[in-house]
Amino acid sequence: MNHPDAPTYPARPDPPSGGLSRLHLDAIHSLNDADILYLLNLGAYYKGLLMAGATLPQPLAGRTQINVFFENSTRTSSSFELAGKKLGADVLVLPIAHSSAQKGEELRDTIQTLAAMGADIMVVRHSQARIIRMMAECLGESGLPTSLINAGEGTKGHPTQALLDAATLLERFNRTPQQGLEGMTISIVGDIKHSRVAASNAELLTRLGATLRLAGPEAMLPDDDFYSEIERRTSLQSALEGADIIMALRIQLERMDSGPGMSNEDYFNQWGLTHERMAWANRGALIMHPGPINRNVELAGALADDKARSLILNQVAMGVPTRMAVLDAFTC
Ligand code: CP
Repeated sequence: MNHPDAPTYPARPDPPSGGLSRLHLDAIHSLNDADILYLLNLGAYYKGLLMAGATLPQPLAGRTQINVFFENSTRTSSSFELAGKKLGADVLVLPIAHSSAQKGEELRDTIQTLAAMGADIMVVRHSQARIIRMMAECLGESGLPTSLINAGEGTKGHPTQALLDAATLLERFNRTPQQGLEGMTISIVGDIKHSRVAASNAELLTRLGATLRLAGPEAMLPDDDFYSEIERRTSLQSALEGADIIMALRIQLERMDSGPGMSNEDYFNQWGLTHERMAWANRGALIMHPGPINRNVELAGALADDKARSLILNQVAMGVPTRMAVLDAFTC
């Protein structure tokens, strides 16, 4: 019999019958509902173990994980590294700046080289859209059994960010993945057009039942045929009215052909979140941000730091168990 004070945590979920539908995690829309529920439930299981300080299972012992980041990262890179190590993997972080990519080696050759060294799973970030699918085809042609995980590609997707955002909301509102986010209104505010986070969240949060809205300056909204089924709001006040969650995004200068068309100060004046402006939203509304944040551009520093209103560090913390779940589920 368990000691009455023994920590409790969710039971390990069973994988979908027949396993995951995918070898690689390239996009949210590639996952079926059973995959998504399994990943969220497995993440909740790992979150419970971490919170309880329990001895962690080592399903990746003897397996090799390689992180290949062609773009900068703090949260995603570090949490994938921590997640792999916690599960017992041998984790290599390829130092891109010192790699043969700098000598003109093509991406396909870099990836095949690492796979041939015995990588069981590769976590990849790249500026090019649909790069994971292209790399998966290369690995398939060469018969190398390595799983690929999208850690952010172009403006098209960042599926593990969406999974950890959904997990953060489920935890906060004490819901299971099966219960989902029905009844919750979420406004994503900012540079939607260049955001891989918005792309993946638009897919996942709506699939979990949330009502989504997109809002930002005209130049930062995607073309009309993207997310055409999701409502758009054209001012910060109208975006916040009736919202339970406001997810702010930074201006992604590195993905813009020309500049943002307004100064940081003007952006903050028109679109910046503050405590005062949060009064437009539903009572108790919370803010999220995938990071990195730019204080006093997309949101006031005081709001970002307000633990009663901000889930930003909850999102960061959820990154580790969510990525443990992804590595556990997808490692070949
Ligand atoms: N949210 C996110 O992807 O952050 P990093 O760029 O720091 O990984």
